[in-house]
Amino acid sequence: MIAMALANKPDVLIADEPTTALDVTVQAQILGLIRKLQLDLGMAVILITHDLTVVRHFSDYVYVMSEGVVREHNKTQPLFADPQHTYTRKLLASEPSGEANPLPEGGETILEGRDVRVAFTLKTGTFFNSSYSQLVAVNDLSITLKKQETLGLVGESGSGKTTFGQALMRLIHADGGTVLFDDKHIEGLTREQIRPLRSRMQVVFQDPFSSLNPRMTIGQIIEEGLIVNGIGSSGKDRDGRVRDALVSSGLPGSITHRFPHEFSGGQRQRIAIARAVALEPEFILLDEPTSALDLSVQAQIIELLRTLQRERGLSYLFISHDLKVVRALCHRVCVMQHGTIVEQGPVRDVLENPQTEYTKRLVKAAFEVAA
Ligand SMILES: Nc1ncnc2c1ncn2[C@@H]1O[C@H](COP(=O)(O)OP(=O)(O)O)[C@@H](O)[C@H]1O
Ligand SMILES: [Mg+2]
Repeated sequence: MIAMALANKPDVLIADEPTTALDVTVQAQILGLIRKLQLDLGMAVILITHDLTVVRHFSDYVYVMSEGVVREHNKTQPLFADPQHTYTRKLLASEPSGEANPLPEGGETILEGRDVRVAFTLKTGTFFNSSYSQLVAVNDLSITLKKQETLGLVGESGSGKTTFGQALMRLIHADGGTVLFDDKHIEGLTREQIRPLRSRMQVVFQDPFSSLNPRMTIGQIIEEGLIVNGIGSSGKDRDGRVRDALVSSGLPGSITHRFPHEFSGGQRQRIAIARAVALEPEFILLDEPTSALDLSVQAQIIELLRTLQRERGLSYLFISHDLKVVRALCHRVCVMQHGTIVEQGPVRDVLENPQTEYTKRLVKAAFEVAA
């Protein structure tokens, strides 16, 4: 796309969210490329983006827009240092901030995976001449998660985060290793045997648009989990639990008769969180729960997750490719690449003093961009 745009030797290149769908390290490479081409060709660049880190490191001058109006414009440095308009202030304030809840000393382990392995068999070649190869998506990985702890799992797309999370929860089959939930082995359990544990471990997925059944009301969506797990003594009792879960998730208890399409992405993600917390779980797998959301909504969801964790003593396995969000929410972090854990430790240590080349690149890309 960049080559096409440059074929006519333009004086101005308009790049509209050129890196939004890319992994952070690729993003840094693309921005570095645009910067280099800009210098070589002497062209001006209009960069359209919602990513403030990119703006801060790439632009000389910034226009801030909302609702079709330019609210403020200035040189980059003074704009970030001293924003004038309330909208700009709000935008800057909604960068993920804060840190994980304080962790109680010597907590017990809630979830442990040892040498968990997942391999997919891939078919290549043609119909008549096919061959099979193995893709080891999760290569003998081990983790422990303590009660009330948030463990971040980061890495670029395809590194095996989702597969690992799902194998730990027995949502997919693992080819090897052991998993203990609350000191009980769960790797060999049948569907029936694992059922009593299901309400204690819940999942929230990335895409709040496809994870809620469009034909069910909000009340039905949340109550379904209660019915399946045999929670609540009567319809009235369940109704009360549904409303409580909605309120805990920052939504009005009165929306039970409405449908998912009536809500924004952030509200839907709150509904998905309400569905999980209604079952009063001890552990929630959060698989990129804020990746599809705007920055300001993302900050609210992070705040909600921290609050729920404090109030309910929840443990989280938090999958993300966004190190800023990880910094705001996690106690410890594991960095994954090609199905292995290349580095792990307390969030502050790993982000401030990364040891491996890969983590260094991720950190640089997340906090510095094309420096
Ligand atoms: N059902 C599947 N069949 C074959 N390959 C898969 C399947 N699910 C995931 N993979 C592959 O496993 C690797 C890890 O995927 P995934 O766990 O989704 O990574 P991440 O969540 O880090 O983006 C990728 O190479 C992906 O293509
Ligand atoms: Mg994933």
